[in-house]
Amino acid sequence: MTGRLAGKVAIVTGGGHGIGKAYALGLAGEGAKVVVAEIDAIAAGTVAADLKSRGFEAIAVRTDVADPASVAAMVERTLVSFGRIDILVNNAAIFATVPMSRSPFDEIEIEEWDRMMAVNLRGMWLASRAAVPHMRARGYGKIINISSGTALKGSASRIHYVTSKAGVLGFTRTLARELGQHGICVNCVAPGSTLSEENPDESIVKMRSAAAGERALQRVQKPEDIVGAIVFFASPESDFITGQTLVVDGGACMH
Ligand SMILES: NC(=O)c1ccc[n+]([C@@H]2O[C@H](COP(=O)([O-])OP(=O)(O)OC[C@H]3O[C@@H](n4cnc5c(N)ncnc54)[C@H](O)[C@@H]3O)[C@@H](O)[C@H]2O)c1
Repeated sequence: MTGRLAGKVAIVTGGGHGIGKAYALGLAGEGAKVVVAEIDAIAAGTVAADLKSRGFEAIAVRTDVADPASVAAMVERTLVSFGRIDILVNNAAIFATVPMSRSPFDEIEIEEWDRMMAVNLRGMWLASRAAVPHMRARGYGKIINISSGTALKGSASRIHYVTSKAGVLGFTRTLARELGQHGICVNCVAPGSTLSEENPDESIVKMRSAAAGERALQRVQKPEDIVGAIVFFASPESDFITGQTLVVDGGACMH
């Protein structure tokens, strides 16, 4: 296998749908062996089978990132199949496939708030905690956490989601400082509003299209628009970059 990630092993959480699926394909296309770690087992299997049909190496592992035992099994399966972990993309979240309510701040149920934090934040911590020992042992690793442009701009609804994505920024910076001594880079990508839904209805297309008007590059954002940033942070080209957040949104939020 050739490519910028030849011989590397990458775990993509939430890799069974939407943008995570595009990350899995992009990393595999650069030569990485890919673990599709996803709560939807059927979707994980479909993506892994698709990658294999294209001549790439991939496995599907049904994973709930909020569950420590499930995350430990994800790492174990990766090691059994591929023997190492070089790249972890912490992409799984409650967002579209596992939907959230887009309610005002005082109408969100406590259970939904707690589950949002358990998946979007604790899940990232658990996956990193399980993968890092295997990166540290080899003195090299790449962790890429997915935030959102909403964490930088704010949003007039779904405060639980936006709060979780703002937490990803602090998580990234702290983990980067803790792991730099081990040669592990920790970075963050913050996508803008992206047409990631597999069968979008008219209202979703309208919402995603409206975001185009806020951008310097005025068009609808697609999952493929974010893949280059992920491959960059996964590759040796970014070996001296850590703790950073790269906004990929066509120039809506400039910071
Ligand atoms: N689409 C956008 O506009 C947008 C914008 C900014 C950031 N993001 C972020 O990008 C990432 C991907 O979003 P998407 O648009 O593809 O939406 P999505 O909902 O399709 O993707 C999330 C994936 O995570 C999986 N998942 C949910 N709970 C899980 C769990 N407990 N364990 C494992 N997997 C789980 C889902 O099944 C899905 O495959 C998310 O982190 C999202 O917050 C999306």
